[in-house]
Parts: sequence; structure tokens; C-alpha cells
Amino acid sequence: MTEDLRKKSIEAMKNSYSPYSKRQVGAAIRLSNGKVYSGCNIENSSFGATVCAERVAVWKAVSENGGDIQIVEVVVATEASPPWSPCGLCRQVINEFVAKNCEVYSINPNGDVRTFTHHGLLPNGFDRSALIP
Ligand code: THU
Repeated sequence: MTEDLRKKSIEAMKNSYSPYSKRQVGAAIRLSNGKVYSGCNIENSSFGATVCAERVAVWKAVSENGGDIQIVEVVVATEASPPWSPCGLCRQVINEFVAKNCEVYSINPNGDVRTFTHHGLLPNGFDRSALIP
């Protein structure tokens, strides 16, 4: 895990808007072009409109770079122990833009780290190759 992503994911947690679950989540991603984006979870009184930290980070990256991006590293930070891995929806959204050997780290501020690969978290995922030959 790179130090800048670790720090940015923990910083992003602090902006979490989570009055309902009271769980702050931060995420940071690095693209193959070197750019880094972060996000936090943003809840909504209409619960289904809540969005996770990881997806906010991905959407920020796409909105600033277009869709031709490759995510090479993801760090997700929560206070939880063990730290949370990305939810299924976020795995799918990451899958759309993921690089071949993307690493995913789940961390908490106490220093616990769980290390995954994206493809370990979402084996045989559905992707654009099914729709665009
Ligand atoms: N959450 C994330 O931000 N990322 C995940 O991968 C798991 C869940 C958020 C959504 C909601 O605001 C809170 O954590 C509890 O589910």
C-alpha cells in the first residue's frame, strides 16, 4: 500500500456524511496516469440514494479524466475492525475501470490492513467484453 493513498483515504473519512449508519468510510484510488482521487460515503434520508466512498472516488476520477482510465490501487478506510472490504456494487463499479493487477487494501486508523486483489474480490466479473467485442 502506498503511503499517499493510505493518508488520503483516512483524510476522506473525515468528510463522510453518515448520520444514519454513523459509519465513516473513506476511499482513495490511483490511476495508471498517476492521478489520485478520494471519496467518502454520502448517505441520504432516502436510504437507497446512499453512495459508498469507493464509488464517489471512481466517479470523481471519471468525471475528471473520462472513461479511459485504469485503476491500479484502491485503499478503503473505516474505523471497523476487521476493516471493511468494498461492497459488491463498488466491486462492480471498480471492475469497469480496473487495471490488470489492481491491489485493494482495507485499513483502519489502528493500523490493521487486509490485502486483496481486485480480481480476488470479484472473480469472473461481468465486464464490457460481454457487450463490446
Ligand atoms: N459503505 C461504504 O462507503 N463502502 C463500502 O464498501 C461498504 C459500505 C458505506 C455505505 C453506508 O454509508 C455505510 O457504509 C454503512 O453501510
